[in-house]
Amino acid sequence: MSREEQIDMSSVNGLDIAYLSPAEAGDLGLAASVAALINEVYEVAEEGLWVEGTTRTSTQEVESFVRSAEIVTARLDGAIVGCVRIQRLDERTCEFGMLAAAPKRRGMGIGRELVRFAEQDGRQKGFEVMQLELLVPREWSQPSKVFLNEWYTRIGYRVSATGAIEDYYPELAPLLATTCDFVIYHKNLRGQPA
Ligand SMILES: CC(C)(COP(=O)(O)OP(=O)(O)OC[C@H]1O[C@@H](n2cnc3c(N)ncnc32)[C@H](O)[C@@H]1OP(=O)(O)O)[C@@H](O)C(=O)NCCC(=O)NCCS
Repeated sequence: MSREEQIDMSSVNGLDIAYLSPAEAGDLGLAASVAALINEVYEVAEEGLWVEGTTRTSTQEVESFVRSAEIVTARLDGAIVGCVRIQRLDERTCEFGMLAAAPKRRGMGIGRELVRFAEQDGRQKGFEVMQLELLVPREWSQPSKVFLNEWYTRIGYRVSATGAIEDYYPELAPLLATTCDFVIYHKNLRGQPA
């Protein structure tokens, strides 16, 4: 893919989508803005799932992800309006998480373009599978999780495994306020069933 095509891909709807460079990890204001956006959207999207006072991330954690070149931001007129973390899991699999679009900018394609960027990036780097994880309350329905399941299914993700958070992140289990299923979705980046 040419450089021009890459720039086109990341500039839909006036959005500027790009990785933060590891050199920007020292900019704590930047890491703090990204962490604040993630925490703000997850407070609503995961309302009722965690004991009070639990936050999704911290400036320090985001800073470490920036240092590892795992944080992508979406900017509109310079302002951060979305983000996603992309990480390598193994030789064939990468994962996106911490996907967030600013509440005031919902429904204009920021989330879709961030996912598209992550998938394109994964393909370019030679990964076969994109993974994502959803924490879903077992006994009741969380509207944002219902929306995400429908959306991810529509764009090609399929449930690959369902377990308990204890199986994957035992350190987080005591922070849950309700019983949840931990659902892992896969999408084959080469157009085959995952
Ligand atoms: C998930 C999230 C990033 C989506 O961001 P967004 O920019 O509002 O979404 P988009 O405008 O790109 O729309 C994404 C899809 O939802 C659809 N959609 C958007 N708003 C909708 C609405 N009000 N009703 C129905 N569908 C809607 C779009 O049509 C699009 O579907 P398509 O790809 O099939 O066209 C955003 O809702 C968010 O930050 N949620 C909280 C954090 C979270 O749950 N992250 C995911 C964890 S895995």
